[in-house]
Amino acid sequence: MAQVSAPRKFSMGPYFWTVTAVMTFWNIASAIWIAVTPLDYLLPKSSLNVTDRGADIDFLFRFMSIFGNAILTYVTGYVIYFSIVFRRRRDEPANTVGPQIHDAPTLEFWWTLLPTLLVIALAVMSTRVWYLVQYGTGAPGFAVEVIGHQFNYEFRYPGLQGSVYNEMHLPLGRPVRVLVSSADVIHSFWVPEFRLKADTVPGLVQNLNFTPQVAGTYLIECTEFCGLNHSEMQARLVVDPPDKFQAWLDGQKAKAQAGASGSTTAVDLAQSDAGAGRTLFTQKCAACHSLGGFDEKKVGPGLGKVFVDKAHAKLVDGDDPTKANVAHIIENGYNGPLGAMPSAQQNGLSSKDVADVTAYLASLK
Ligand code: CUA
Repeated sequence: MAQVSAPRKFSMGPYFWTVTAVMTFWNIASAIWIAVTPLDYLLPKSSLNVTDRGADIDFLFRFMSIFGNAILTYVTGYVIYFSIVFRRRRDEPANTVGPQIHDAPTLEFWWTLLPTLLVIALAVMSTRVWYLVQYGTGAPGFAVEVIGHQFNYEFRYPGLQGSVYNEMHLPLGRPVRVLVSSADVIHSFWVPEFRLKADTVPGLVQNLNFTPQVAGTYLIECTEFCGLNHSEMQARLVVDPPDKFQAWLDGQKAKAQAGASGSTTAVDLAQSDAGAGRTLFTQKCAACHSLGGFDEKKVGPGLGKVFVDKAHAKLVDGDDPTKANVAHIIENGYNGPLGAMPSAQQNGLSSKDVADVTAYLASLK
């Protein structure tokens, strides 16, 4: 007579409490480790608390890590334990059914209550930090605008005519309000050491309020894939002591004043470096221009033969292809039937950069 195996009696298995004790010990030990060790092995320079908000965000990170680690350990730990203890034995038929459990009110109560409390606590703490980042701590912050471009950052300061590119300065110890937006596509303004990030969205201004607490130079990155040169889209953030910051801002104002009255340094084509131009071309031009012939277009025409192209003997503005005329277009930008190219200032190119890029293009023939 074939033996039909009876359903097993319900139990948690032979080592349930031992396994639970081991996992609990592991969770307590790792919770202490997460709470007290610096986060430098995961996130840059966290122990410096370079901004007041950075410290808050590190706290949230630790809080989530401790509970996330506990949930991961218990869930995967029990899944592994039960699948070993309650596996089908060799001598049991393939259609053996394990003990069926219906209704465990105590268990259900706790596995509903604990995660609910945890999520509520996390929501309350995160909302507090979000509110501080959005609205600041009270005193109106010193406002700086950040505008994302393909593929650089533009910074605007109160009272400063014109913009600063690729290097942002902030005063130490003073509440600042960074207003983040975009001129073209969605980028994401991220300062890893500050723990602050905001998407730059065309038509939307987002706030980041905080107080820089440690002088130094930090990295600004774009963390939203925004086009071919997304990976090149970086800038520096310099936190200066207040007097040094004021001197820098005054210097920028004087420079803008000089620019407005027409006495900027002219592009000096004799002082140029084709090697530096090559690097700049990759960073600033290659997203829109290939190094092929005129017809190998990306956004704009290919520039590899701009000085020697018999089929296109004139530049796009109708001028002869001399170095001075090419530099003129890079300096002032272009707007015509082929499309629009931003000026050197909008592209974050200095007069020296314009000369270098021109020299590089001239070296290609
Ligand atoms: Cu801008 Cu990625």
